[in-house]
Amino acid sequence: MRKLLLLVWMILMSLGAVAQKMSEKSLKNGYISNLIKRMTLEEKAGQLWQVAGSFATGPDGNNLGSLKAIAEGKVGSVLNVSGVKNIRKYQEAAMQSRLKIPLIFGMDVIHGFRTGFPIPLAEASSFDQQEIQKGARWTGTEAAASGLNWTFAPMVDVGWDARWGRVMEGAGEDPFYGSQVAVARVKGLQGDDLASTNTIMACVKHFAGYGAPIAGKDYNSVDMSMGHFANFYMPPYKAAAEAGAATFMSAFNDFNNIPSTANNFLLRSLLKEKWNFNGFIVSDWGSVGELINHRVAGNKKEAANIAIMAGLDMEMVSNCYIENLVDLVKEKKVSINVVDDAVRRILNKKYELGLFEDPFRYCDENREKEFVESAKSREVARSLSERSIVLLKKQENILPFSKNLKSVALIGPLAKSKKDMCGAWSTANVNNVITLYDAMKNRGVQVNYAQGYDLESNQIVNYDSTLLAIEKSDVVVVAIGERASESGEMRSKTDISIALQQQELVSKLVKTGKPVVVLLMCGRPVIFNEVRDKASNILLTWWLGSEAGPAICNVLWGDYNPSGKLPMTFPRNMGQIPINYQYKSTGRPYPGDWSAKYIDSPVEPAYPFGYGLSYTTFKYSNLKVISDNLNKGTHAKISVDVTNTGQYDGEEVVQLYIRDEVASVTRPIKELKGFQKINLKKGNTQTVVFDITDNQLGFYDNNINYIVEKGDFTVMVGGDSENLSMKKFNLK
Ligand code: GLC
Repeated sequence: MRKLLLLVWMILMSLGAVAQKMSEKSLKNGYISNLIKRMTLEEKAGQLWQVAGSFATGPDGNNLGSLKAIAEGKVGSVLNVSGVKNIRKYQEAAMQSRLKIPLIFGMDVIHGFRTGFPIPLAEASSFDQQEIQKGARWTGTEAAASGLNWTFAPMVDVGWDARWGRVMEGAGEDPFYGSQVAVARVKGLQGDDLASTNTIMACVKHFAGYGAPIAGKDYNSVDMSMGHFANFYMPPYKAAAEAGAATFMSAFNDFNNIPSTANNFLLRSLLKEKWNFNGFIVSDWGSVGELINHRVAGNKKEAANIAIMAGLDMEMVSNCYIENLVDLVKEKKVSINVVDDAVRRILNKKYELGLFEDPFRYCDENREKEFVESAKSREVARSLSERSIVLLKKQENILPFSKNLKSVALIGPLAKSKKDMCGAWSTANVNNVITLYDAMKNRGVQVNYAQGYDLESNQIVNYDSTLLAIEKSDVVVVAIGERASESGEMRSKTDISIALQQQELVSKLVKTGKPVVVLLMCGRPVIFNEVRDKASNILLTWWLGSEAGPAICNVLWGDYNPSGKLPMTFPRNMGQIPINYQYKSTGRPYPGDWSAKYIDSPVEPAYPFGYGLSYTTFKYSNLKVISDNLNKGTHAKISVDVTNTGQYDGEEVVQLYIRDEVASVTRPIKELKGFQKINLKKGNTQTVVFDITDNQLGFYDNNINYIVEKGDFTVMVGGDSENLSMKKFNLK
C-alpha cells in the first residue's frame, strides 16, 4: 500500500511539474502576445536593432546617439557596454520609452571576463569538458555580475586551416569533439535558468562554415558540398542548438553562393525549422549592411528585405532594419508576421532573463564587487590553464624541475608580457595578469632574465647578456612564439612559422650545453621545425590568461603533470595546409608509389590531432570488442587496459576512433567517437570501457539525412590519432 501511495505521489508531483512548466510557458506567451499587440510598427523595428556602445555607428559611420534612440524605443539591445553603472544608465533610458521594454546587453566575453581564461583553443587542449564547463560557468558569473545578459560565444566553427587567425577562438578540427566542447560552453554560460543573476545567454557562432574560408583568408567565401558541411562542420552548431543555446549569430561569409546573413537554407530551413530552434539570430557586426558589399543587395532597403525574409532576427550595428522595415511592411514586401516572429523571439528571451520583472536585476554593485575577478575565478582559470598545456617533447629528464632548483635563466620578452598572455578577444584586466617572470620570482627561485630577442623585429639582441644569464643559471627556459595580436579576427597569415631568428636563438641556447626548455606561446598551430629538431623539451602554452605564470610554473616544477592533447593538427610546412586527421582513403591511398602524397614533403604532420605527452608514460593493452556483432539499436562495448608505466602519477586522454570499412559514400579513414580523461597513479592499470551505439556509427548523406549502414567497422584506441591499437566488429 505504501509503495502504491508513493507511486501515486510521484506521478502527481511530476504532473505538477509539467503543469507548472506549461503554465509558466502560457503566462509568458500571453504576456508577450499582449505586448506585441500594443507595439507600433516602429517599436517592433526598434527591437530588431542592436547598437554599439556610446554611439551607434553603422558601416557608413553615421552616428545615431544611442541614448536618444533608446529613449524613443528604437533600440532592442546594446553591445560592448559593461559595468553595472554604465548598463544602468542605458537601461534607465529604455525605461523612458513608451512601453518600457528593457534592453539586453551583449559583449564578446570569449574566454573569461575580467579574469582572463586560456584562449578557447587552449582550453580545448584540456580534453576536460567538466573543466571547460566550469570555466564557462565562472565566465558567465563574472559577466552577469557586470550587468551583461549575453555573450557572443561559444564560437564553434570547425577549423582545418591554421592560416585563419580565428582558430584561436574555437575547439579545433574535430566535429565530434567540437560538439562536446560547444555543449559544455553553452551549459556553462547559461546554467539551468537564464533568470538567475549569474547566468547569461550564449550565442552560437558563426553560422555557418566560417572556419573554412578559401585560402584561409578571413571573411573569404566558403564553398563546400552539403555532405561535407553536414559531416565535418555542422555537428557543433547542431549540438549547441540541441543544448538549448539561446541565440545564434550569422556568419560574415557566403555559404554556397549566398551570404549566411541572408541564407534562407541556413537560418530558416535548417536552424529554425529542421532543428526547431526557438531562440533568435543576430547578425555579425554590420553583416546586414555588408550584403551590399556581397553585391546581393543594391541598397540598405534590399539588404533589410532579404535578411529578414531569410530569418535574420536582430541586426547588429548597421541600420538597414531601423531605416527600412516600416516601409517594407507598409509596401507589403515584408509580412508583419515575419516581423512579429522576430520580435517575439527577442522578447521571449528578455522575459526568460527576468528583465520584464526587473529591468535592473543584473545591476547590483555589491554582486559586481563580489564576483568580478574573484579569487575563485582565478583558481578556476589556473586549473584550466594547467590542463591546457601540451607537452610536445621530453628528453634527458630535465622536466619536471627539481624543487631544489636554485636558478633559472629566463629568456624572451613574452615571459614578461602581461598583454600577450591574454591572447586575442580578451576582456581581461591586463594589470592583474601574472606573467611567467612574476610567477618564477614568487616561487623564490633565482631568475636571471635576458631579453634574448626583440618582440617587434624578432632580431636577436644583447646576446652577451643572454650568455651571462645562462652562465649564472642551472637551466634555461626560453619563451618564443607569435604575439597575441597575430591571431584572432582579421589575422590570417600566409606563413605560420615561428620567426626564424627566434628559432636560431633557441639553437644557440641549446649549443651552450645547459638544459633548455622551450615554451611555445601562440594562438594557432605553428611551424617551428628547427626548434622541433634541436630542442629536447618543448611545452605548448598557448595564451593562458590571468594565471598564465603560475600555471606554467606548476607544470615546469611538476606540481601539475601536463595532460593536454592537440585539438588541431600541427603541420610540418605550409604546403600541407589545410590538414586534418580525418582525411579520406581516396582511390590511391597513401602509402604507395602512385598514391595521395607529395614529392617534396612527407604527408605526416609535425604533430597529429590528439597528441600530447606526460611526465609519465602509458601503455595500452588488451583491446577488446565485448559484443562484436552489433544488431541495430544495440551497443558495442569496447574495453582497453591502460597502465601508467612511468615514475609519476598522471592523466591520460584515452581516445576512441572508428573506421567505417565500406559505406555508400566515401568516409574518413578514422573519426573520433569517444574520449575519457583518466587519472592513473604510477604503476596502476585501469580498464577503460567505451559504449558505442549503432547511432554513433552513422553519417549524413548529401541531403543532410543521418544514415546508419550495416557492415564492418574498425575500432581504434590510443593516446593520440596515430598510435592506435585496433579491432574489427560488425554492425548487422
Ligand atoms: C566581430 C566578430 C564576432 C563578434 C562581433 C561583435 O566582427 O566576427 O565574432 O561577436 O563582431 O563584436
